[in-house]
Amino acid sequence: MAYIPGRKKKEEEPERGKKNSTAKLDDIDVLRLKKAHQDLLEAHRGVRESHVEMILNLAIAAEYKDPDTGNHILRISDYSTEIAAALGISADQIEHLRYASPMHDIGKLGIPDKILQKPAKLTPDEWKVMKQHTSIGARMFQSSKSPLLRAASEIAMSHHEKFDGSGYPNGLKGKEIPLFGRIVALADVFDAVVSKRCYKEASAFDEGIIYIQSLAGNHLDPDIVDTFLKIKTIIRKIYDANQSIQKFIEESNNKVLDV
Ligand SMILES: [Fe+2]
Ligand SMILES: [Fe+2]
Repeated sequence: MAYIPGRKKKEEEPERGKKNSTAKLDDIDVLRLKKAHQDLLEAHRGVRESHVEMILNLAIAAEYKDPDTGNHILRISDYSTEIAAALGISADQIEHLRYASPMHDIGKLGIPDKILQKPAKLTPDEWKVMKQHTSIGARMFQSSKSPLLRAASEIAMSHHEKFDGSGYPNGLKGKEIPLFGRIVALADVFDAVVSKRCYKEASAFDEGIIYIQSLAGNHLDPDIVDTFLKIKTIIRKIYDANQSIQKFIEESNNKVLDV
């Protein structure tokens, strides 16, 4: 018989069904496989953890340039997650939205501080520059292999589009605006209204709700506004809670997320 590399001679091959030392070797192999699988899961958990941390740190870096916004990015994530769950979208999609939505304003890293932190109304030219935070943010992740980062790119690009087509940067209308963009648009507007900013005081929770109702069909998707109103009690809990970065990262560690 011709020699084939790696192939055992016939007499070396174990007889099938016989309980001998080979069976013990098989048990050891199973144990080794289990251990390797466990190690792989651990490694995956570690990668996921650092991925989420990196994402949040990037989002926080953008927030530092806009000092009034505090834990805005975490509340956006919580509001968006609850709206998405109430809309009935898949668990995977909800998870992507949860971790991508904090990056909606990541493009502000590319906007000069004198514009971002100006305590007065922006001039038309400054406003033009400010609007570019959408496309700057989208470009940062648009060719990423990670579905999570591609979702972040889509949200960065679309969170200032308006349902009636009067938004920016592309003037998209209705369902042309990606679903994630329509959800984050609502969360972003609501949080901005009920939070204090350098140019205004915070509105009360109920005033924020009334304001969101008034935007149904013009700025915001009316179906998403309806869903938001249905979960008002949950929204109130997020509004009252003081979400912390640490808690947010810890929660992410318990989830299986395809990043
Ligand atoms: Fe924005
Ligand atoms: Fe925002």
